[in-house]
Amino acid sequence: MLNGIIIAIDGPAAAGKSTIAKKVAQKLGFTYIDTGAMYRALTHKAIRSDINMDSDKDLGDLLLHTEILLIPKNGGQAVLIDGVDCSDEIRSQEVTSNVSKVAAHTTVRKLMIEKQRALAEGTGVVMDGRDIGTAVLPAAELKIFMTASVDERAERRFQENEKRGIHSSLSQLKEEIENRDRADSEREISPLKMADDAILVDTTSMSIDEVADKLIELAEKRMER
Ligand code: CDP
Ligand code: CDP
Repeated sequence: MLNGIIIAIDGPAAAGKSTIAKKVAQKLGFTYIDTGAMYRALTHKAIRSDINMDSDKDLGDLLLHTEILLIPKNGGQAVLIDGVDCSDEIRSQEVTSNVSKVAAHTTVRKLMIEKQRALAEGTGVVMDGRDIGTAVLPAAELKIFMTASVDERAERRFQENEKRGIHSSLSQLKEEIENRDRADSEREISPLKMADDAILVDTTSMSIDEVADKLIELAEKRMER
């Protein structure tokens, strides 16, 4: 790795953030951190432990007693909760429909941001989420706000589910994405919002490789500085 920089990728659901972040991190030899997986992990544990997801205090206490590890695996990332691989479970419908509620709590966000900053220390990093460029790593050298039309994003999630053997309804997926985007954008603490110094990348008609190449080019320019 040459000069490690911090690349923050934010944007709405299913815009391609984690797919692209993984590729860019691999190409540059950087660490990839999927912050959405951390909120999903806490939500999964809260459901399993029957914790009141409306209680900031109960969720904060739960998070303090939960070990969430992101481990590189097959070019991607495995998510371990208290030592158990829950990479598939955190993508369940039940987790997806509750995660925005969990992620809106003050203490949860405060503790998560501390963890995320610690993970980003001393290394080149690509971190994706909703508030990376605005709240977690505001000094990131490269900030991307990645988006795509909601129809395209719903179609991508639909195809992704089909590949995983999950048959879903396109219209329901679209509605779920719109609801989650709205909840994430309207919450009080670090809402989903483009940072003033972020570069907008609309991937609606771009392939994965085109988006990845564009980001790698932008990152290399930043590293030359
Ligand atoms: O992959 P997908 O777009 O479905 O979502 P994700 O990145 O796994 O994030 C799941 C949820 O976690 C989001 O809808 C947000 O509610 C929350 N999240 C957040 O609040 N802040 C972040 N930095 C990352 C995710
Ligand atoms: O992390 P985020 O929720 O933003 O999206 P993702 O999980 O990385 O991508 C959602 C789906 O879109 C994945 O199945 C990707 O393979 C696909 N994708 C795509 O078809 N074209 C792109 N330019 C980016 C992602």
